[in-house]
Amino acid sequence: GKYRVVSTKPMPGTRWIDLLVQQDCRVEICTQKKTILSVEDIIALIGDKCDGVIGQLTEDWGETLFSALSRAGGRAFSNMAVGYNNVDVNAANKYGVAVGNTPGVLTETTAELAASLSLSAARRIVEADEFMRAGLYDGWLPHLFVGNLLRGQTVGVIGAGRIGSAYARMMVEGFKMNLIYYDLYQATRLEKFVTAYGQFLKASGEQPVTWKRAASMDEVLREADVISLHPILDKTTYHLVNKERLSMMKKEAILINCSRGPVIDEVALVAHLKENPMFRVGLDVFEVTKQNSPFTFPSSFIIQLSIHFFQDEPYMKPGLAEMKNAIVVPHIASASKWTREGMATLAALNVLGKIKGYPVWHDPNKVEPFLNENSLPPA
Ligand code: GLV
Ligand code: GLV
Repeated sequence: GKYRVVSTKPMPGTRWIDLLVQQDCRVEICTQKKTILSVEDIIALIGDKCDGVIGQLTEDWGETLFSALSRAGGRAFSNMAVGYNNVDVNAANKYGVAVGNTPGVLTETTAELAASLSLSAARRIVEADEFMRAGLYDGWLPHLFVGNLLRGQTVGVIGAGRIGSAYARMMVEGFKMNLIYYDLYQATRLEKFVTAYGQFLKASGEQPVTWKRAASMDEVLREADVISLHPILDKTTYHLVNKERLSMMKKEAILINCSRGPVIDEVALVAHLKENPMFRVGLDVFEVTKQNSPFTFPSSFIIQLSIHFFQDEPYMKPGLAEMKNAIVVPHIASASKWTREGMATLAALNVLGKIKGYPVWHDPNKVEPFLNENSLPPA
């Protein structure tokens, strides 16, 4: 191979390797046992000559790594993730490295996990499972694990992009929920879908479903029974759900997060779960990082223009693991075989595109911001 491409982790499937190898690339896959590679580990992998790297969302792709990659002659980096909060895109631009991410292939898989968590929370599946395994089941009882009926309730979506819209559609179509959503951009196709489905239900003699585009995030939090968070993580969405916003929500609401941990103030969440035993939460992502633990921001955080912060979340805030009204899973929203192979393939195509002089397949520079300055969370 003429070009040297490094993958910081083994990735599912072989198509991504074949694609690279067929196009003059030699692929090197790091098989180090360590779950999360440090900046130093990755510098060693890059070495003296490296044309492109496929990296993971657990890695801190900032100034140091992009300058090392650029010194090694590298011009391409792809995150194997749709999120790129671990990537300093400005630093990449500065060192002439193109950046790619992997949207699209994980939309339905991620939305399905958000839907799974919604149902599991509504019907208290995890608690009930623990109860069975503990040998506590002693016969049917009218009050045993009574949960929420979703039919006719309202699903709230914050961030109605690809994943948020797919989730909304599943909940509306599958469980005949009404929809309220908040996004800077109008989710036209989603609105049309809910309208058409509402007409269909009406024609079948059933109670129709409705939709509403909320004027503010707070409106969604106040009105919805099940709320799922689907924004990107940046300075405008850090602690989007804080103490004040938790208190706006219905006492029996369900909150789902399959986006990024720091979107929720996890300490405030634990306190809220303790005070409101009927409030339930389903979390795929957590706030505290391994390398940055305890997680802190510089005080100038909010005013920084180019923001880059690295997130991985192997820890839960104290108290969360003990809460019966919380369901917690280890960042598995995109974990279907088809999707993970697709993500690996897209990441390879991103790197290959740049090496071969094509446009990068997916360029996060072109991603629109989720919120504007006016929608920053209350201080
Ligand atoms: C997973 O969290 C991703 O951003 O792809
Ligand atoms: C419950 O099992 C019922 O039959 O109502």
